[in-house]
Amino acid sequence: MNISKIAILGSGSMGTAILRGLLKAGFDAANVAVSTKSQASASRLAEELGVNAFSAEATAEANSLAVAGADVVLVAVKPMYVASVLTEVAPSMLENALVISVAAGITNATMEAVVPDSVAVIRSMPNTPAIVGRAVTGLASGSRATQEQLTLACSLFETVGSVLVLPEEQIDALGTISGSGPAYVFYLIEQFIKTAQNMGFDEATAAMLVTQTFLGSTELLVASGKTPQELRKQVTSPNGTTMQAIAKLDEGNLTTLFTNATNAALARSKEIAAGK
Ligand SMILES: NC(=O)c1ccc[n+]([C@@H]2O[C@H](COP(=O)([O-])OP(=O)(O)OC[C@H]3O[C@@H](n4cnc5c(N)ncnc54)[C@H](OP(=O)(O)O)[C@@H]3O)[C@@H](O)[C@H]2O)c1
Repeated sequence: MNISKIAILGSGSMGTAILRGLLKAGFDAANVAVSTKSQASASRLAEELGVNAFSAEATAEANSLAVAGADVVLVAVKPMYVASVLTEVAPSMLENALVISVAAGITNATMEAVVPDSVAVIRSMPNTPAIVGRAVTGLASGSRATQEQLTLACSLFETVGSVLVLPEEQIDALGTISGSGPAYVFYLIEQFIKTAQNMGFDEATAAMLVTQTFLGSTELLVASGKTPQELRKQVTSPNGTTMQAIAKLDEGNLTTLFTNATNAALARSKEIAAGK
């Protein structure tokens, strides 16, 4: 990867997941600088991962110190802080730096307005399976990013999983599916574990049964090349037990439920973009 130094502004769940992916792919920790709010987080990252770490608690210059000399600046603070953090570091950025943000709802135009004109911006939406190298990340170029910079951003996120390049108008929609998606999956698993407990299994057994069922089914789906419908039909014998269960699930109209849920997430992205 053709990056001399990367700065990661905000290294919480997502910033650290990407950082771990980069290091695992062989990127040198000496060429990474991270910033955090608390000194405790900065010290932990420096000790555990060997990166240069600066905290806002220890110095007001933390973000600018991290950005100095960085050709890639990954912004992984909460969405409400993105514009102020970029405004703060703008004078310290390299002239040809590339800014990549993971923040939900913050547009390329918002970021382009606060960084120097020579600095390109790319917006991304990864998800937390990045921690185990199984993310899916959507990427959308800003108006100044070159094809070469987009390719660089793709290789950065490929260190933690799969990458999809898409027009910026679609990135909020992608966020409602794959960005928030792990939470939906965990919620389903949580509810299904409760169901197994109601059937008389203790918590650990219930968790094992449900987790392995999700894992095994997903691996089968990927390995078989079949559609979920085809695989579901293999489990659903005519007039058998599964058929009765699916009929009950159909009564819940899951398509409508998921559409309502993702529409609510999309509405919230628009509110975040409007600064609410
Ligand atoms: N989590 C997800 O599933 C997910 C998925 C896709 C995109 N995202 C995006 O990722 C971004 C971060 O989310 P997260 O879940 O990783 O949040 P998080 O775990 O709360 O991490 C936020 C990080 O920002 C640091 N921070 C706060 N104020 C700062 C400042 N002024 N300067 C520098 N660093 C500062 C925090 O420091 P401390 O460690 O000291 O508190 C922490 O390291 C968000 O914009 C979100 O939209 C998250």
